[in-house]
Amino acid sequence: MKRIAVFTSGGDAPGMNACIRAVVRTAVYHGIEVYGIMRGYSGMIKGEFVKLDSASVSNTIQKGGTILKSARSQKFMTKEGRQQAFDQLVNHGIDGLVAIGGNGTFTGATLFEQEFGIPTVGAPGTIDNDLYGTDYTIGYDTAVNTALEAIDKIRDTADSHDRCFFVEVMGRDSGYIAIPCAIGGGAEIVMIPETQMSTDAVIDSLKSSWQRSKTSFLVVVAEGEEEGNAHQVAQRVKAAIPELDTRVTIIGHIQRGGAPSAADRMLASQIGIAAVEGLMNGMRNVMAGIVDRKLVYTPFSDTIHKKKLINQSFMRMVEILSV
Ligand code: F6P
Repeated sequence: MKRIAVFTSGGDAPGMNACIRAVVRTAVYHGIEVYGIMRGYSGMIKGEFVKLDSASVSNTIQKGGTILKSARSQKFMTKEGRQQAFDQLVNHGIDGLVAIGGNGTFTGATLFEQEFGIPTVGAPGTIDNDLYGTDYTIGYDTAVNTALEAIDKIRDTADSHDRCFFVEVMGRDSGYIAIPCAIGGGAEIVMIPETQMSTDAVIDSLKSSWQRSKTSFLVVVAEGEEEGNAHQVAQRVKAAIPELDTRVTIIGHIQRGGAPSAADRMLASQIGIAAVEGLMNGMRNVMAGIVDRKLVYTPFSDTIHKKKLINQSFMRMVEILSV
């Protein structure tokens, strides 16, 4: 392997820069040339390639966002788009790719490999932590801490005014961000897509807390919750318990920004090294991840199709700790 390229795709996540840095420095360490592709698959199609060296990634490990920028490309989902991307890789003499992103990124990489045989090793970069094949994804720890900081502040005002706050956190179709926010934030209730907690059950639970003389409440709602978003759930609760003073906060994109935590910098660095060394060892169509503290490479087909299950005992923890 003589020349590789690295890119970030999908939603940005804190720690992506630490991962890019690790990829670049590992390549340099092994005498491999490395290019950065700007704006993910979209930049690959347009030929937005930049040569990187060790100095290009100085002073980036602590920065949020991604220096390579990110995009979600519709064109790459077409055969014509992938052909253009392949032509650009050939023009630049690239013989391996490191793709930092989530399942959308790996789905694109799988198609690309099937059609053109370009080997790709993936790095799990998403705040959602919804990827099978790694206990944690790059950006997750930082996002949870950011959300928790906001929740702590919301609790102050909830407590001062005897209010019930419905706080919506990100996570796409998973409740991985919501669970530690609820446990760490001392929430009464958590609603996630992986469990079927009806709004009626939420109402019953709040009524019984109310009767136990609790005066302020926190309900963490994962954005993918099937009962509806935080506004819809709050509306139904208010209709059932009019005496409850309800408010809704959607934490939103601040969960994606900011300096990566120590855990995310560490994970991103480990994965970046593993991705390049995986390519050097002939791996393709796999994602590097850490499971039970060990480095593992999981086929993209598994990361895409297998569901990473949420430990149901966490729901019980929320119930016990909010008694
Ligand atoms: O995948 C990361 C994520 O932040 C999800 O939690 C969220 O559903 C989505 O991206 C938001 O995407 P966008 O920034 O395109 O609105």
